[in-house]
Amino acid sequence: MTKTLVTCALPYANGAVHLGHMVEHVQTDIFVRYLRSKGDDVVFLCADDTHGAPIEVAALKQGITPEAFVAKWAVEHQRDFADFQISFDHYGSTNSPENKHWAEFIYQRAKEQGSILRKEIEQPFDPKAGRWLSDRFIRGTCPNCGAADQYGDACEVCNATYTPKELKDARSALSGEPLQWKKSEHLFFALSKHGDFLKAVLADERFINRGSADQLGQFFTKGLADWDITRDGPYFGFQIPGEDNKFFYVWLDAPIGYIAATEQWLAKQGDTGPLGKAAKYWDRSADAKVIHVIGKDIVYFHCLFWPAVLNVAGLKHPEQVHIHGHLTVNGQKMSKSRGTFINARPYLDVLDPNYLRFFYASVLGPTAEDVDLSLKEFRERVNGELVNNLGNLANRTLSLLAKPELAKKLAPVNAALGKPLVDQALSRVGEIGKAFGSFDHRAAVKAILEIGFTANQFLAQKEPWKLLKTDPEGARAVLSEAAEVVYLLACLLEPIVPELANKLFTQLNRPRLTFKALTSSSYPLLGRDTPIGEPSPLINRLEAETVDKLIQPAPAAEAPKAPTSAEAKGKAKPASEPAAPPSEIDYADFAKVVLKTGRIVAAERVPKADKLLKLSVDVGEAAPRTIVSGIAEAYQPEQLPGRNVVVVMNLKPRALKGIESKGMLLTAGPGGKDLLLLDPGAVPPGSEVK
Ligand code: MSP
Ligand code: ZN
Repeated sequence: MTKTLVTCALPYANGAVHLGHMVEHVQTDIFVRYLRSKGDDVVFLCADDTHGAPIEVAALKQGITPEAFVAKWAVEHQRDFADFQISFDHYGSTNSPENKHWAEFIYQRAKEQGSILRKEIEQPFDPKAGRWLSDRFIRGTCPNCGAADQYGDACEVCNATYTPKELKDARSALSGEPLQWKKSEHLFFALSKHGDFLKAVLADERFINRGSADQLGQFFTKGLADWDITRDGPYFGFQIPGEDNKFFYVWLDAPIGYIAATEQWLAKQGDTGPLGKAAKYWDRSADAKVIHVIGKDIVYFHCLFWPAVLNVAGLKHPEQVHIHGHLTVNGQKMSKSRGTFINARPYLDVLDPNYLRFFYASVLGPTAEDVDLSLKEFRERVNGELVNNLGNLANRTLSLLAKPELAKKLAPVNAALGKPLVDQALSRVGEIGKAFGSFDHRAAVKAILEIGFTANQFLAQKEPWKLLKTDPEGARAVLSEAAEVVYLLACLLEPIVPELANKLFTQLNRPRLTFKALTSSSYPLLGRDTPIGEPSPLINRLEAETVDKLIQPAPAAEAPKAPTSAEAKGKAKPASEPAAPPSEIDYADFAKVVLKTGRIVAAERVPKADKLLKLSVDVGEAAPRTIVSGIAEAYQPEQLPGRNVVVVMNLKPRALKGIESKGMLLTAGPGGKDLLLLDPGAVPPGSEVK
């Protein structure tokens, strides 16, 4: 049987996975579980994307090696995905010998085929940090609107895009030094040679949806640009064989991680052959197909570079790239300051993952339109559809059958009573399977809900709860036919909410029913001689207060516990009190301190504290920060608004006189009256101080 390899995009190992990632992983997991249920030979793969400058610099800031940094995220990511019941067959890492092997193999093939070009280019360099700078590590003034402190490639104020050369007063974000332009020889993948091949790939309707294919057309009109696959060291990644201090750009080895994950999965299956065995599924002639699921932001990499790179190496290009839209929360982009940037773990701390799996399934369609998590709609759908329609149908049916009068026994088959109901439900199975198989999960949910609705109507009409006393055998007959539908619904729901489906199989005391089994089954689905098991409610209602807990503005989430009274009185040292500082520290330790410029917006005295002022300081964030500062003897509150200051940004929040202080101002002088606020000059609030 043809093997199907299904992948999700590889999350960057530089932060927690969030509910946006879950849009991708849940929809892919539903797709994969459906394929498994219908009997396909599927392998579901993912990995962490570990290389590149941002990860290396983040590790440096924490004073740890990039390897240690990515190892921590690997553990967290896998825990989060497992708790959302994402059923990977393997979760790997791009920082692995398997990936190195395949990156080198593919590079070698591309070189042999004449698809690697050498060009000398001029690159920005930070002489102080000793690093070449990517656009994200360059800051300067926007050439279009004049906004200060913008990235090297695009302005966040006016959305203009430009090159770092066009940026005014361009400096390194690492050291603040002006950019130095230096020449360096880079290797390019000759994408321009692969235009005809790519056009043919994109013309295949199974490859990507037409809307996305049309959008990619613009690259052909402009002419396909060759792609720089090199970065000069130091760089966290794989060194390019035969070159001096050159590394593969992270976006070259990231998709190769899909092949490396296959290789690692094979080894886990006991295949102990030498590196390269994933060719079994990736070779152009292999009996396998590859399906990638990605967000709309990374289409360019997956639908242009990647197929061309695979093709030149004699490997199979993906049969399908399914593209989804982005998650919005309450109609807006996820935002840390609004508290709507919800990571997977805080969600799991308050809510059952089945709610979100069900909700995502009920709103996800086959196209790349964005997906909105409106918290109101989330609660209404979960309560109305999952809890009331489906959960109550199952629970009413099974708990009535478990009453002493019926003692969990089913009635003999009564085709006149139940066959039309069950046949009607069975007639929807093909359509539901097709919907799951084409990522049209919301169409599947709609059909499932219609089956539930009809079965609920059947119960409402027959009123078995009334028959229980007068005609218990009549009640048993009605409920046994309804139980047929519950059994079918458990199968249909399994890809979406596997845990709940398994609960139903256990409560029915029946083996799992698969889509494959359904292709050769018909009414009756339940052997009537076996009694049912112990019923219990499927899932609780979702309460508004619980849903509201998902939204937590960032500062509140980070606030430390209030100090105990002993700590507040200075009797006990807070655990975080630092030891006496060593005479010299590493740069990495200094780099942990984030300093930014701020501007005081308001100032007032703190009652019963003659040394303290409570300040409101604009530090370039959505809202000003409250900082309590010991400068009351040196400054009158009315002198302060409008003053520029230097702020220690990442000091843990502290409670001073009951006021939570976030950050600290830098001052100079012996103290008391003789204290000066350090003044950075008229730089916009939020500028980095280095
Ligand atoms: N590391 C690259 C992918 C390399 S694949 C060879 C990357 N990582 S990511 O962590 O930024 O994103 C991983 C996936 O999650 C991407 O498909 C991306 O589109 C998706 N999403 C990230 N944020 C998202 C939302 N807010 N909403 C929906 N999907 C989002 O890109
Ligand atoms: Zn601008």
